[in-house]
Amino acid sequence: MLEHRHRALEVLAAQQHLAEESEALAVRAIDLHDAQELALRLFPLVHRRERAREHDATFEAVRGRLEAEVADLDRVARPAECEIRLAEIDERGRSWITANQIDQLLDFLSRGTAIRIDHQRVQGNMAQAMGSTCGVLFRIATFGESHGPAIGVVVEGVPARLPLDVEAIQAELDRRKPGQSRLVSQRKESDQVEILSGVLDGVTLGTPIGMVIRNQDARSKDYEEVARAYRPSHADYTYDAKYGVRAIAGGGRASARETASRVAGGAIAQQVLARFGVSIVAWVDEVAGITASVDDRTVTRADVDTNDIRCPDAAVATQMIERVERARKDGDSVGGVIRCVARGVPPGWGEPVFDRLDADLAKAMMSIPAVKGIEIGSGFAGTKMTGSEHNDLFERRAAGSIGTRTNHSGGIQGGISNGEAVTIRVAFKPTATIMQPQETVDADGNPTVLKPKGRHDPCVLPRAVPIVEAMAALVLVDHMMRQRARTL
Ligand SMILES: Cc1cc2nc3c(=O)[nH]c(=O)nc-3n(C[C@H](O)[C@H](O)[C@H](O)COP(=O)(O)O)c2cc1C
Repeated sequence: MLEHRHRALEVLAAQQHLAEESEALAVRAIDLHDAQELALRLFPLVHRRERAREHDATFEAVRGRLEAEVADLDRVARPAECEIRLAEIDERGRSWITANQIDQLLDFLSRGTAIRIDHQRVQGNMAQAMGSTCGVLFRIATFGESHGPAIGVVVEGVPARLPLDVEAIQAELDRRKPGQSRLVSQRKESDQVEILSGVLDGVTLGTPIGMVIRNQDARSKDYEEVARAYRPSHADYTYDAKYGVRAIAGGGRASARETASRVAGGAIAQQVLARFGVSIVAWVDEVAGITASVDDRTVTRADVDTNDIRCPDAAVATQMIERVERARKDGDSVGGVIRCVARGVPPGWGEPVFDRLDADLAKAMMSIPAVKGIEIGSGFAGTKMTGSEHNDLFERRAAGSIGTRTNHSGGIQGGISNGEAVTIRVAFKPTATIMQPQETVDADGNPTVLKPKGRHDPCVLPRAVPIVEAMAALVLVDHMMRQRARTL
């Protein structure tokens, strides 16, 4: 038995080595016995056939070896159906075998032989290498360049029969769009969302929701300077180094325009979360060292949206606005900190060890352009405290539930939500594109001086508030679904 197992695993390893990594299939076998070994051998065979059209030579080698292996299983009592299925596969030769057929085959093997095979189609290194998707069970994929015809998002995993409030999606996009005040970029985009799929008569179908936002106010001429030389601390050089080609106008996908797609996806996530009593509020907490005083237990979105800088501390907001206006006049820029709180998150969300809730939140926030740091709970300030000061002491709540007296943990312990508010701080750098001459180099390394034109945010923070909320919502809804799947 052990020998069989080793042989099966060897073959599998060999196949995976030969396999195109982008379409590798992960097979995890539980309760190994002969029939399962057969499945292990059969599965890569099917998989190989899928790839065979492009890789004839590999296919032949793999096929020969696998079939020898399968034939060699003299001690395995192969069910007759298996034989038929093998013959079918042979007959199909190099024709395309769909994922659905693979699933059917696995299902058949599982039922027929009382074995269980956990299988998962690894989405492929290609998809992951492209880096445009986020989430596991609730997942978004964004597309589009800043000055292309449109940007958009595909949202997968939205439950069926959910009444979808499209106006609420639009309202979130309006909070992010440029031109909404004199503190931000004056690019004029209406950012009207069009829903292309997944919704019928205002109700979700459970199928992917496709949304597009047309680009309207692209001024490619503004980017002639950027085409000539690399902007310091922007993504021009790294995109060139990586792809060898780039959509120069508007900054392509490095532009924060891409984040409108996340906001649209995040707005749906927030509607799902609201049904579970989870609400998220973010606000500008600091600009260029000017710090607000805000109570994260009570602050509302209405408080946040009372001024253009999106800081609920009115007196400090005025100082922040003056500071941003000064930066704009100087042709310069400033950075700051956005704070975010998610209330109503129950204990239990987060998947240790690598998909801890704090780890996923950190990744999501760090994926926002211009973000340079994130803190959960006490964050870096906690390093200056002692354990006795920092520990969140447990207490019994009135309703008999367990809570903590303080929340230095930011609502997450061991990577799992503990029922307290999830609190985050996100650090944004000063906008890279400034209207002052700066020394740089061109693509050949020749020194030059760059003075960009165009419409830029002297401070990205007011527009980044809904982006932070959207990313928090996307992570939380995904973990909500993962926890529910775990406890089915
Ligand atoms: C809401 C928002 C607006 C932004 N607006 C600008 C802008 O007008 N000009 C600019 O140079 N960068 C802007 N950025 C930041 C750039 O997109 C970002 O700095 C660039 O992609 C390089 O990535 P990095 O700063 O994360 O390294 C903005 C970011 C956000 C979140």
